[in-house]
Amino acid sequence: MENNRQNTADREMEIPVSEPERQYYFIERARKNLKKMEEAAGRQLSFCVTTFGCQMNARDSEKLVGILEQIGYIEELEEEKADFVIYNTCTVRENANQRVYGRLGQLGRIKKKNPHMMIALCGCMMQEPEVVEKLKKSYRFIDLIFGTHNIYKFAELLATRMESGRMVIDIWKDTDRIVEDLPSERKYSFKSGVNIMFGCNNFCSYCIVPYVRGRERSRDPRAIIREIERLVADGVSEVMLLGQNVNSYGKTLENPITFARLLKEIEKIGGLKRIRFMTSHPKDLSDELIEVMGQSEKICKHLHLPVQSGSTRILEKMNRRYTKEHYLELAEKIRRAVPDISLTTDIIVGFPGETEEDFLETLDVVRKVQYDSAFTFIYSKRTGTPAAVMEDQVPEDVVKDRFDRLLKEVQEISAQRCAIHEGTVQTALVEAVNDHDKTLMTGRLSNNLLVHFPGDESMIGNYVDVSLDECRGFYYIGKIIGK
Ligand code: SAH
Ligand code: SF4
Ligand code: F3S
Repeated sequence: MENNRQNTADREMEIPVSEPERQYYFIERARKNLKKMEEAAGRQLSFCVTTFGCQMNARDSEKLVGILEQIGYIEELEEEKADFVIYNTCTVRENANQRVYGRLGQLGRIKKKNPHMMIALCGCMMQEPEVVEKLKKSYRFIDLIFGTHNIYKFAELLATRMESGRMVIDIWKDTDRIVEDLPSERKYSFKSGVNIMFGCNNFCSYCIVPYVRGRERSRDPRAIIREIERLVADGVSEVMLLGQNVNSYGKTLENPITFARLLKEIEKIGGLKRIRFMTSHPKDLSDELIEVMGQSEKICKHLHLPVQSGSTRILEKMNRRYTKEHYLELAEKIRRAVPDISLTTDIIVGFPGETEEDFLETLDVVRKVQYDSAFTFIYSKRTGTPAAVMEDQVPEDVVKDRFDRLLKEVQEISAQRCAIHEGTVQTALVEAVNDHDKTLMTGRLSNNLLVHFPGDESMIGNYVDVSLDECRGFYYIGKIIGK
């Protein structure tokens, strides 16, 4: 007894208080626990991380995978076969939540048959108290629940779960912390997402992201540059800078710096070939940024600029802080500065109070801007956001009809836009073997369109010049004409 207490005390004393050292300590501790679990099971144990939602979540999942691999788990791509399943969730629209509940039911049945199995849930959906209540009540078989703000503590929480044998729940309301230098494992060897900021301060009235991702925080530019330099040394040539509103990057730093300046610094990194970023909010898109994009050798010819609605009246109710005219002006300015740029967008149909007239304004913007592609969403009511309690929620059949009309328009225009490049030769970064035809490789052009061409696996990660022989609506079939 006495001895035991002494051991625990020793153990507590050696736990580092500063990060990331503390997490490396817990990685080691989880590693020892895993060894014991593997001995009991008589085999190696595996994990599977399933990601829902946006690129931020995808990047967070890479951090989870990095930690799991250091602990010693092996990756299993088929969820049903894995001993540790982690869902990194999204809650931007209601159907994202429904999908998680549906799949959890299935997972619960699998767990009954595998005594070594653990299930963890994290991500944006966990930042909603009602969700966690429901999980606690109706999904008792879950082992670990954590949120977006304390994802860096994954190793510590997992070690706690392994040692206590009880359900562990840790959710923070918000944070002003950014923990650097934790392990992460990239999905692709040649390209990577890089967070430049976290959270969002914009509070668009329909959107739940500011509530689940917290206040806007920018990473120190030196930490960003250092991360990219390391990535490049490790074989990465394309980075995607990530933030909910990259155009407001740096404003809250002790030494403020603009996003355009950050881009210029990143451009100087030798060996880096392509720079992408998302998402840009139109209200903060500066002339300085447009100029930098026009001059840059590395920034890809693609801008994702969500418009959400073409009606100034609706934009105001959405709290977007720009007008239809301002948006159209921006689009024109960018096309002038970067002539062959591809413009893409997000559009919401059926926001409360949207009339047929408002909707026609959206169609008008779509026709005027000529988007290369657009993600179209049916408005989804998110409890706790201002729009959820607005009057005049639009009837389902009306929304559906508008959505279909919008989709048709968007698809026709993107097919026309795609056809413009048919017959040209462009550089593609070879990303993968084609899913449907193993003799073809898939490459990504600077403008973000895909091209499929004969080749082999050894080309992955290389840049090749491809003739875009045939446009098939939203991608090309082509052939390599040089390297
Ligand atoms: N920060 C980004 C968007 C993040 S969410 C931006 O401001 O552009 C991605 C997209 O989901 C949004 O652009 C919007 O079109 C859509 N979206 C967000 N909340 C939604 C809701 N409640 N209903 C339907 N679509 C929504
Ligand atoms: Fe949501 Fe608006 Fe923030 Fe984008 S900018 S994440 S739409 S609140
Ligand atoms: Fe979804 Fe969270 Fe991204 S709500 S869209 S995963 S920031």
